[in-house]
Amino acid sequence: MTTMPTGQPAATSAANDETPMLRLQNVESAYGPIKAIRGVSLQVRRGEIAAVLGSNGAGKTTILKTISGIIDPRKGTVEFKGEDITANDPSAIVRRGLMHVPEGREVFPLLSVRDNLLMGAYTRRDGDAVARDIETVFGYFPILRERAAQDAGLLSGGQQQMLAISRALMANPELILLDEPSLGLSPKLTKEIFEIVVRINRERGTTILLVEQNANMALNASDYGYVLENGRIVMEDSCDRLREKDDIKEFYLGMKDEGVRGERRWKKKKTWR
Ligand SMILES: Nc1ncnc2c1ncn2[C@@H]1O[C@H](COP(=O)(O)OP(=O)(O)O)[C@@H](O)[C@H]1O
Ligand SMILES: [Mg+2]
Repeated sequence: MTTMPTGQPAATSAANDETPMLRLQNVESAYGPIKAIRGVSLQVRRGEIAAVLGSNGAGKTTILKTISGIIDPRKGTVEFKGEDITANDPSAIVRRGLMHVPEGREVFPLLSVRDNLLMGAYTRRDGDAVARDIETVFGYFPILRERAAQDAGLLSGGQQQMLAISRALMANPELILLDEPSLGLSPKLTKEIFEIVVRINRERGTTILLVEQNANMALNASDYGYVLENGRIVMEDSCDRLREKDDIKEFYLGMKDEGVRGERRWKKKKTWR
């Protein structure tokens, strides 16, 4: 049973049920002279899980950092719930209900697991509900209850990923951005984490945008997918249809060494923690 409120603030005049939760139009972001994403357009509908698939260096992390305000784009717009958030700073975007789980999880290593969770709730004023919500995330990830008093830095990589997702949930967001939840984890742990991500989406109605190199996992968990190569979206479709496409099967699910636009296969690092 979930105790977190799933009802969200009343829709503003700019937003209704058909307004996408998130919409990027022609977004271009760069690091100095290096254009990392070049004219990315995508949308995430309310209540769905969307995935951006792409190999190492494709620009996945840059897309998420641009959405959450860590990077300001050179061109294009980012809309959240029908409102332009392109030039907003990260804390304002968090307050609107968007949480970013960064690559490599980035928990506070010297704080306890419980204090990490409380950090996730810092924008909230409803103390009793926060206490109940800690119980809810312990329901998703029971190992975190066992480790509640331990320093987060002592957790395994998989447990830190669970904590990072849980910390984002503590803000009771409408949209979660997930950067490569499978990175460095064993296939078994990856599967476990994806199952919970799907449960969170189904039970709470939380909209999720995830980016992944692990196309297999991402396609199975998501409703809609985008394929990113060299900073550009080269293909998009429902995940059911993407799974059936030869390019995807061969390159992203494992049999060919060139992608849709001639992108070379990356060397998979097997550094499981
Ligand atoms: N801080 C940075 N400074 C310069 N170039 C960067 C920086 N971060 C990423 N890049 C470059 O931008 C491109 C996209 O990177 P990134 O978004 O991290 O890709 P992904 O997450 O798909 O692996 C890559 O070519 C990468 O080398
Ligand atoms: Mg990345």
